[in-house]
Amino acid sequence: MRIYVDDGSTNIKLAWKDNGEVKTFISPNSFKPEWSLNLFSDQISANYEIEGEKFSFDPGSVDAVVTTETRYQYSLVNTVAIHHALLHSGIKPQDIDVVVTLPLSEYLDSDFQPKTENITRKKNSVKRIVSLQGNKSGFSIGKVSVLPESIPAGFNVLTGLEDDDSLLIVDLGGTTLDVSHVRSKMSGITNTWCDPKIGVSIITNDIKNVLASYTRISSLQADKMIINRDENGWLEHRLPDAEMRTQVINAIEAKKKLLVNRVLNVIDRFNGYTHIMCVGGGAKLIAEDIQKNTNIPAARFYTSDNPQFDLVLGMLEMKEGSSNG
Ligand SMILES: Nc1ncnc2c1ncn2[C@@H]1O[C@H](COP(=O)(O)OP(=O)(O)OP(=O)(O)O)[C@@H](O)[C@H]1O
Ligand SMILES: [Mg+2]
Repeated sequence: MRIYVDDGSTNIKLAWKDNGEVKTFISPNSFKPEWSLNLFSDQISANYEIEGEKFSFDPGSVDAVVTTETRYQYSLVNTVAIHHALLHSGIKPQDIDVVVTLPLSEYLDSDFQPKTENITRKKNSVKRIVSLQGNKSGFSIGKVSVLPESIPAGFNVLTGLEDDDSLLIVDLGGTTLDVSHVRSKMSGITNTWCDPKIGVSIITNDIKNVLASYTRISSLQADKMIINRDENGWLEHRLPDAEMRTQVINAIEAKKKLLVNRVLNVIDRFNGYTHIMCVGGGAKLIAEDIQKNTNIPAARFYTSDNPQFDLVLGMLEMKEGSSNG
């Protein structure tokens, strides 16, 4: 069985085929560097060990291991996070092959050629054995393939473009902005740009800062505030204090503007594209402004209902043919 893993810095996204049907799963990266006491015996343990180091999944931990840095891509906690996602995906533990991702800057050199040493490093990193509370994890990873971030997300759109057309794929994740300008039918890469400092974490960190004088919250909790910012009553319930709430809402708005400007500055480096696609968890925060500012007609602008899964679904389509097949 082959499982597609977009192992982003804030969330692991999985996609696989089950009897021809495409399934997906998402698992947040929130691990602390020690084991937790499991009070509920009916729950799967989330205490892991890798190369003598212990980690446990803890969604509320304010001391969660920082995963929003490039070196996370090859870290012990990344391998643990992949196993954790697999163990909670509903897939029966078994021997599997995986396809994982690296940010564009790690994957491609300045001539747009794969950086083989990084790809090998990533493969070796993912193959490390993870044990679950003293036992083997249950998933044994055999073959590992590595794909670049952003590019595979455009697979379907690129397949349908005319020969002279090209697509700008803008992937805004938790930490990184990956932009690639790809020619139709994936016939070539015109240009790419990766900024590991532009991501939704600009907003996440500001929410944490704003709240720091009242309380400490985890990145995962701050992310939930961003995601649910427009849900009626959601923020009121989490932040009953009106003053605190206003500060959080203002922080989200201000940093969202900053994020949009930073993304637009990067897009300014590109020219000649005929279509744009916006993917990644941050797509919903920026898509409207990007379309407006680039003057790309609506019919040539793509953003899906669930942009966080576009990359992993594109990886699956690229390797296995269309999702119906
Ligand atoms: N509907 C939404 N509106 C706003 N932000 C969202 C939404 N859904 C997810 N996010 C944000 O998107 C981020 C996660 O996106 P994604 O899963 O694409 O990142 P990642 O792949 O883990 O990170 P990276 O690609 O930078 O390594 C989180 O910071 C989360 O707060
Ligand atoms: Mg990502």
